[in-house]
Amino acid sequence: MQNIFRQNNLVSKQDREQRFGTKGAVVWLTGLSGSGKSTIAVKAEKMLTEKGYRCYLLDGDNLRLGLNADLGFSDADRTENIRRISHVAALFAHSGCVCFVSAISPFAKDRETAKQAAKKMDVAFFEIFIDTSVAECIRRDTKGLYKKAIAGEIKDFTGISSPYEAPTEPFLQIDTLSCTPDEAATQLCDLLVLFEQLGTMCAELCDVSIKAGEEILDVYNSDFAVQTKEDKSPLTLADLRSNKVIVDFLTSHYPAISVLSEETKDTGERRKNPFCFVVDPLDGTKEFVKRNGEFTVNIGLCAYGKPILGVVYAPVTNTLWYAGVGCGAFSQSSDKKKYFDESNRIFVSDKTDGFIVMASRSHADERLAKMLDNNKDRIEKSVSAGSSLKGCLIAEGKADIYYRTGLTSEWDTCAMHCIVEQAGGVLRQLDHTPLLYNRENTLNDKGFYILNRPENTLE
Ligand code: ADX
Repeated sequence: MQNIFRQNNLVSKQDREQRFGTKGAVVWLTGLSGSGKSTIAVKAEKMLTEKGYRCYLLDGDNLRLGLNADLGFSDADRTENIRRISHVAALFAHSGCVCFVSAISPFAKDRETAKQAAKKMDVAFFEIFIDTSVAECIRRDTKGLYKKAIAGEIKDFTGISSPYEAPTEPFLQIDTLSCTPDEAATQLCDLLVLFEQLGTMCAELCDVSIKAGEEILDVYNSDFAVQTKEDKSPLTLADLRSNKVIVDFLTSHYPAISVLSEETKDTGERRKNPFCFVVDPLDGTKEFVKRNGEFTVNIGLCAYGKPILGVVYAPVTNTLWYAGVGCGAFSQSSDKKKYFDESNRIFVSDKTDGFIVMASRSHADERLAKMLDNNKDRIEKSVSAGSSLKGCLIAEGKADIYYRTGLTSEWDTCAMHCIVEQAGGVLRQLDHTPLLYNRENTLNDKGFYILNRPENTLE
């Protein structure tokens, strides 16, 4: 923009959050006309307000009576409609408000605009797909618009004579045939109440991981025995003592959230709960046994399978990495107890070549060696690190790429996955689909990659 100068506010997003105690977010409900977006959103807005959170609903129809009164329903007008709503919603969220949006927003590229507008304002963005089929919308036809559209009285009508591109990776998909509007609103409200707690929770879990680290170091500095588990991986007293500290804390402080831990018997009950902690009390037991210091404590939290909080702690170097959706990603020494200091914020690198590639300490990999060889012109060097440290190093921009073809489990990746994403990076399965958590099969058997930038895939 020519002759335009950005004016910086004297009050930051963090100042507002601290002063008013709530964190802003954009909660974007997309779906066909008559799918139930507005019905669910008005209920969720009421529920969340009654719980004491600042929130506001920007409804597509209502905005078309004012801000967007000059727009129609051509593709270009819809794009402009969503562009305007995107920026207004991001501003609301930046002011510390949970901003619900209910607009058809039929085009994926426009919803991407909304996501990017939120990202630019450093606020969380939740895409919620209100999944009601065209047939069901025609059956309900609450506004009588489908009848008119089918009769040709309304042109460019979404689902009839204008396309709707359903989201492929929404944060949450609500099938309105299988729940009531009240249940759907409660689902949203529960998610947002948890979202509002993430900062406090993250600080508590950093403290817990440090305590777990003390238990580990106690064993590390002794003459410890090594058992071999059924899957042939090693187990020490350190794994068990760390596990007890963490799981006792989680179950007593957050009884409504399930726990999946490498060292606790999994009954599968957790799968009924959309919120689940995913814990590896000691990741890198092999490194622990080798006494090279490259092991970590990992506590992740997922909602609807997506990692929303992560804490990784390396006891030997006293280093913490932590992140939460809407909070950002951070790294600091465990001696400094002030969490979320902007000076400790971390971001992935913006490299597009000359990559530093992470390699596993304990797992040699032929497929990976070949891939590195194919891309040797784009790679500066390859470095090794144990356990989840590989993801953490990428999150803080000290490395750029990691490919993992061998087996890992949910608890090996959940915490660092969140840290990588909140630092601006990408973690996906090798087939490019999202890696989700709280699954029946806890093995990450499709492998995964971590990239500083989505376009930096290696072939
Ligand atoms: S969007 O496509 O640009 O996101 P928006 O959510 O703002 O649409 O407005 C959709 C509402 O406008 C519908 O719920 C419906 O009440 C009304 N409407 C009027 N004409 C159309 C049309 N041709 N297509 C879709 N919705 C329409």
